[in-house]
This record gives sequence, structure tokens and C-alpha cells, in this order.
Amino acid sequence: MGNRIQLRLPFHLLLLFLFVDFCHVTAKQWDGIIVTESDYQSLKALKHEFIDPKGVLSSWNDTGPAGACSGWAGIKCVNGQVISVQLPWKGLGGRISEKIGQLQSLRRLSLHDNALVGPVPTSLGFLPNLRGVYLFNNRLSGSIPPSIGNCLLLQTLDLSNNQLVGIIPPSIANSTRLYRLNLSFNGVSGSIPISLSQSPSLTFLALQHNNLSGSVPDDWGSVLGNYSSYNLQSLALDHNLLSGNIPSSLSKLTMLEELNLSRNQIVGSIPDNIGNITSIVSLDLSGNNLTGEIPTSFTNLSNLTSFDVSYNNLSGAGWFSTVVNED
Ligand SMILES: *[C@@H]1O[C@H](CO)[C@@H](O)[C@H](O)[C@H]1NC(C)=O
Ligand SMILES: *[C@@H]1O[C@H](CO)[C@@H](O)[C@H](O)[C@H]1NC(C)=O
Ligand SMILES: *[C@@H]1O[C@H](CO)[C@@H](O)[C@H](O)[C@H]1NC(C)=O
Ligand SMILES: *[C@@H]1O[C@H](CO)[C@@H](O)[C@H](O)[C@H]1NC(C)=O
Ligand SMILES: *[C@@H]1O[C@H](CO)[C@@H](O)[C@H](O)[C@H]1NC(C)=O
Ligand SMILES: *[C@@H]1O[C@H](CO)[C@@H](O)[C@H](O)[C@H]1NC(C)=O
Ligand SMILES: *[C@@H]1O[C@H](CO)[C@@H](O)[C@H](O)[C@H]1NC(C)=O
Ligand SMILES: *[C@@H]1O[C@H](CO)[C@@H](O)[C@H](O)[C@H]1NC(C)=O
Ligand SMILES: *[C@@H]1O[C@H](CO)[C@@H](O)[C@H](O)[C@H]1NC(C)=O
Ligand SMILES: *[C@@H]1O[C@H](CO)[C@@H](O)[C@H](O)[C@H]1NC(C)=O
Ligand SMILES: *[C@@H]1O[C@H](CO)[C@@H](O)[C@H](O)[C@H]1NC(C)=O
Repeated sequence: MGNRIQLRLPFHLLLLFLFVDFCHVTAKQWDGIIVTESDYQSLKALKHEFIDPKGVLSSWNDTGPAGACSGWAGIKCVNGQVISVQLPWKGLGGRISEKIGQLQSLRRLSLHDNALVGPVPTSLGFLPNLRGVYLFNNRLSGSIPPSIGNCLLLQTLDLSNNQLVGIIPPSIANSTRLYRLNLSFNGVSGSIPISLSQSPSLTFLALQHNNLSGSVPDDWGSVLGNYSSYNLQSLALDHNLLSGNIPSSLSKLTMLEELNLSRNQIVGSIPDNIGNITSIVSLDLSGNNLTGEIPTSFTNLSNLTSFDVSYNNLSGAGWFSTVVNED
């Protein structure tokens, strides 16, 4: 009976039994179990497509599946499956292999501050456990794969400071746990999906320095399903091609502390109910085409410490002591 079970085990599990004592001696942070064959093949494919001038991945050598989880740089496993690939600031070039989609248990992918090129892999959408994707400060190109909407546990997606183009797929807000989305400093265009303005979990939304156009959505804080609280604390939409008015629904964002709409083509007057965002600390509306007066409701914004409405076409509000309109 015992023999039968042992014979059915995959070869690499047998290897574990053979080397387990050896591993206890040599690997100080042994994760317990060897990596699965599928994850091993995926890591090999990743290594193959990276360019690694500093030789950081030399620890990803051919010691076979039994070695992968104990000694490979930047890799963490649980129960033989890779849960984290974390290699920031390693001078890595090349592309992120689509085979990354085989790492079924992957939760965190952190490759920021490298020199990676090519697209954000579409196969990230095959990773149901993905929670954090940190690919900022690279040279990634192409568009944001809509498949990311399949990652329903996603909390952080930071693709900022790359060369991404195309639209922001509405599915990007599918995860009800999305907490921080940063697509700033790319070349994404089209309008801001309404789905983002309806996400009750989203707390930091950074879309600044892109080519976004159309109006700012006017659906902030609209009741979606049974959610009643909106957590948005920081909204950065500056340096785009946004037009239309400042949406009055922004007043429903009762947690909002930072709002930057600077350097767009927003017209019309500042809505009166802006005085309802009493949580606001920093407000930058400079460099638009705003007209009319600064509403007196501003006096209710007791936490406001940074306020810029310069480079607009506002008429001076008598009550407002500082001359802020430099246009
Ligand atoms: C594999 O990498 C480990 C860790 O860097 C190293 O100790 C070992 O000598 C390498 N083995 C081979 C065969 O290169
Ligand atoms: C977004 O990314 C930019 C550029 O990488 C960074 O400066 C900014 O702090 C980030 N903001 C958030 C909210 O993550
Ligand atoms: C993600 O969102 C898109 C549209 O926003 C929707 O069609 C799709 O069914 C969603 N996918 C999941 C898995 O929820
Ligand atoms: C934005 O669009 C303009 C013209 O539509 C183009 O010239 C410019 O390169 C784009 N900027 C980025 C960052 O893609
Ligand atoms: C929303 O709440 C109502 C009443 O509290 C409940 O009957 C309903 O099932 C809830 N809907 C969802 C989608 O959770
Ligand atoms: C708002 O955005 C503009 C343009 O990108 C930037 O210069 C400014 O520093 C930002 N304001 C604040 C308060 O961060
Ligand atoms: C503001 O409006 C004027 C007149 O319509 C236009 O000429 C100008 O380009 C606009 N400025 C911005 C920053 O959109
Ligand atoms: C502003 O807030 C007050 C008090 O919470 C509320 O009565 C009013 O309806 C709000 N106004 C708008 C336009 O949201
Ligand atoms: C103003 O700031 C203080 C200190 O950070 C905070 O306790 C308070 O809740 C803020 N007020 C509002 C209306 O958000
Ligand atoms: C300021 O807030 C108070 C109390 O919430 C409200 O009664 C008043 O109308 C507000 N003033 C303005 C100008 O919005
Ligand atoms: C500023 O506003 C005035 C009056 O509303 C208007 O005549 C003028 O064309 C505006 N200037 C710009 C640059 O939009």
C-alpha cells in the first residue's frame, strides 16, 4: 500500500523526499515544499524572456523543481506554488513572458523600476488570486489588457510611468477590492470609464499625465448594489485633455482629501457644492478654462491647506483675501 502511493508520486516529489534533509541543512529559508512542475516551467519561461545584465537570475539555475522555492531570487512559494515574484530595481530588460499566466497561485507581481519592454501580459487575467501588480517605472508598451478584469481580488494595480497607450478598459474596476489604481505618466487616451467612478473600494486613483479626453464622469458616489460608502481619498486627473464641467457628484466623496484637475480644458463654473467636500486638504483646479466666481461655500473647507485656481478665467471673489486668479 505504502509502496503504491509512493510510486504514484510525481518525480519531483520523490526528489523532495530524497533531498529533504539536505535542504534543511543548506536552505535557511526553506519554504517547506518543492514547486509544482507547471510553476517551474513558467519561471523558466520568465527567465528566458528577461534580459538580466546583473545576473540576478543566476540563482534560477537548473537545480530543478526541488530547488526553485528555496534558493531562487525574488520567488516565494506556499505549498509548492509561487505566490510572489518580487524583483524591483534589478536592471531587468526584456519582456514579461505570457507564461506567467501558469502561476495559478500568484498574488504579487512586483517588477517595478526595471527596463522591461513589451506588453503587460494578457495572461495576468488567468490569475484568480492576483492582488498586487507593481510594474511602474519600466518601458512597457501596448494597451492595458481588459482581461485584468478577471482578477476579482485585485487590490493594487500600478502601471505608472511606462509607455502604455489605448483606452482604460472598463473591466479594470471589476474587482470589488480595488484600492489603488495608478496609470499615471503613460499615453492612455479615451475617456475615464464610469466604472471607476462607481467603485466603492477605490481609495487612490491616479490617472495624471496621460491623453485622456471627454468629460470627468459625473457618477461619483452613486449607489451601486448595496454599497453605501465611497472611499476615494485621492483623485489625480491633472495634465490630460479633459473637457466639460467639474462634476457636481464629486461632492458625494466624503473621504476625498486630494483633488487635482489641473492642466486640462475644463470649462464652466466651480460647483457650489464643492463646499460639501469638507474632508478636502488639497485642491488644484489651475490651468483650465473655469469661469464665474469662487463659491463662498469654500469657507466651509476648514481642512483645506493647498488651493490653486490660477490660470483660469475666474472673476475675483470679494470675500477671498488672496488674489488667486493669475490669468
Ligand atoms: C544554483 O544557484 C545557487 C544559488 O545562487 C548556487 O548556490 C548554486 O551553486 C547554483 N548551482 C549551479 C549548478 O549553478
Ligand atoms: C502614481 O504614480 C506616480 C508615478 O509613478 C507617482 O509619482 C504617484 O505618487 C503615484 N500615486 C499613487 C496614488 O499611487
Ligand atoms: C468585468 O467587467 C466587464 C465589463 O465592465 C464585464 O463584461 C465582465 O463580465 C466582468 N467580468 C467579471 C469576471 O466580472
Ligand atoms: C497625446 O496625443 C497627442 C495628439 O493626439 C500626441 O501628439 C501625443 O504624443 C500624445 N501623448 C502621449 C503621451 O501619448
Ligand atoms: C441588498 O440589500 C437588500 C436588503 O438589505 C437585500 O435583500 C439584497 O439581497 C441585497 N442585495 C445584494 C446584491 O446584496
Ligand atoms: C496638480 O497637477 C499639476 C499638473 O500636473 C502639478 O503641477 C501640481 O503640482 C499638482 N498639484 C498638487 C497640489 O499636487
Ligand atoms: C479657453 O477658452 C478659450 C476660448 O474658448 C480658448 O481659446 C483657450 O484655448 C481655452 N484654454 C484652454 C486651456 O482650454
Ligand atoms: C451639502 O451638504 C449638506 C449637509 O450635509 C446637505 O444638506 C446638502 O444637500 C448638500 N448639498 C449638495 C448639493 O450635495
Ligand atoms: C480634518 O482633519 C482632521 C485632522 O486630520 C480630521 O480629524 C478631520 O476629520 C478632518 N475633517 C473632515 C471634515 O474630514
Ligand atoms: C457651511 O456648512 C454649514 C453646516 O454644514 C451649512 O449650514 C452652510 O450652508 C454651509 N455654507 C455654505 C456656504 O455652503
Ligand atoms: C474670460 O471670460 C470672459 C468673460 O466671461 C470672456 O469674455 C473671455 O473670452 C474669457 N477668456 C478666455 C481666455 O476664455
